[in-house]
Amino acid sequence: MEKMWAGRFSKALDKKADDFNSSISVDKRMYRQDITGSMAHAAMLGKQGIISESESGRIIAALSEILSDIEEGRLEIDPEAEDIHMFVESVLTSRLGDLGKKLHTARSRNDQVAVDIRLYLRDEAKEIIMLIKKLISAVVVQAEQNKDAIMPGYTHLQRAQPITFAHQILAYGMMFARDITRIQDAVKRMNYSPLGSCALAGTTYNTDREFEAEKLGFDGITQNSIDGVSDRDFCLELASAFSIVMMHLSRFSEEIILWSSWEFKFIELDDSFTTGSSIMPQKKNSDMAELVRGKTGRVYGNLIALLTMLKGLPLAYNKDMQEDKEAIFDSVDTVKACLGIFAPMIETMHTLPDNMYAAAGRGFINATDIADYLAKKGMPFRTAYKIVGEIVAECINKNTVLDKLPLNEYKKHSDLFEEDLYEEISLKNCVEKRISAGGTGTASVTKQIEYLKKTIG
Ligand code: ARG
Repeated sequence: MEKMWAGRFSKALDKKADDFNSSISVDKRMYRQDITGSMAHAAMLGKQGIISESESGRIIAALSEILSDIEEGRLEIDPEAEDIHMFVESVLTSRLGDLGKKLHTARSRNDQVAVDIRLYLRDEAKEIIMLIKKLISAVVVQAEQNKDAIMPGYTHLQRAQPITFAHQILAYGMMFARDITRIQDAVKRMNYSPLGSCALAGTTYNTDREFEAEKLGFDGITQNSIDGVSDRDFCLELASAFSIVMMHLSRFSEEIILWSSWEFKFIELDDSFTTGSSIMPQKKNSDMAELVRGKTGRVYGNLIALLTMLKGLPLAYNKDMQEDKEAIFDSVDTVKACLGIFAPMIETMHTLPDNMYAAAGRGFINATDIADYLAKKGMPFRTAYKIVGEIVAECINKNTVLDKLPLNEYKKHSDLFEEDLYEEISLKNCVEKRISAGGTGTASVTKQIEYLKKTIG
């Protein structure tokens, strides 16, 4: 196919160079956004009298036909085209003749591509937010079913204090709720139209950029035409927000994998989300969670690729920037795939509260509560802390646990100890007593569930 810019050249582009230059395989997915952007542009050209209203109407009608032809499989996107912008324009020209060639008045591919990516990412961001909401909803379902499931809470992966399984997984719910606002925030900053920036300097035509912006659902126009075509901050911000989503998913994955192991056995993933081994018949592997954990790396990689691609780039458009789409699209695809698998995996996961409780019974996780018991009876907390440390050491020596050490042994350390101690340090009580806002007590857990339910609307 002859290049639209062939006029200036006396030789055709080398085949290898042509392939190397082409971005159609990556940017063809933006065909809808490209056509929508072109329709807004054609409407503006007509309204401003840059082309006639009837010409504008015919271009818009032909563009709308091209869109439905692609969508309904009547028109295949030519893999030999240079990019999606050139493809759409060439089809338009083949259908309308010279009139098709008028569309590119007061426009450049530089502002065109900057519009297309924004429109595309705006749509994808919406979908990703919806997928995050589905995941939060799965977390809430599990939390509601496991409000009474007591397990050890960990620090340094050492048993620390008793919590409920609900409380633990609601922590992930909070992370995902923040992820939504982070994406929304990036979209808010992205939602300004660069259309009309043209190649870099604006145009000599009497255009109406606000009109185009409004037609395309932007909140306004970008204020500097050079920035309009050079800015890819929104790719960075979204790639970064998606990296954080993946970081959260990978932490959750890690716990899912640990909890599914025989060493923990706090949960069992549903058969429909686990795989077997080709040699070890007993295996049931958490491959989905492992893959999500693994794919986190490529999403971080895309962020670094984008940052590095933009580093030191002079203004305005440089072809380097064509690399933006492959990176950000891969992040979009990966995050969507991971969220898509995670929500049903969490929803169908079976919890094993008896095993959680048994683990909570070992590891002296009610030691802080004994220190609090003494402190509430007037002993300075640091002194109480030291005494309980000695009692724990004694239990370890005697191969027993705090709940089973007889009162007379306790009394040797302090006569503040009374029979009510045992009730005080029961695991259920230890959880229930954590009444502080945001703590593991039931009232707080209920509040957290309500909060997340409101988040997902
Ligand atoms: N395919 C190009 C990209 O993705 C479109 C913009 C081309 N602009 C240009 N001046 N060569 O960045």
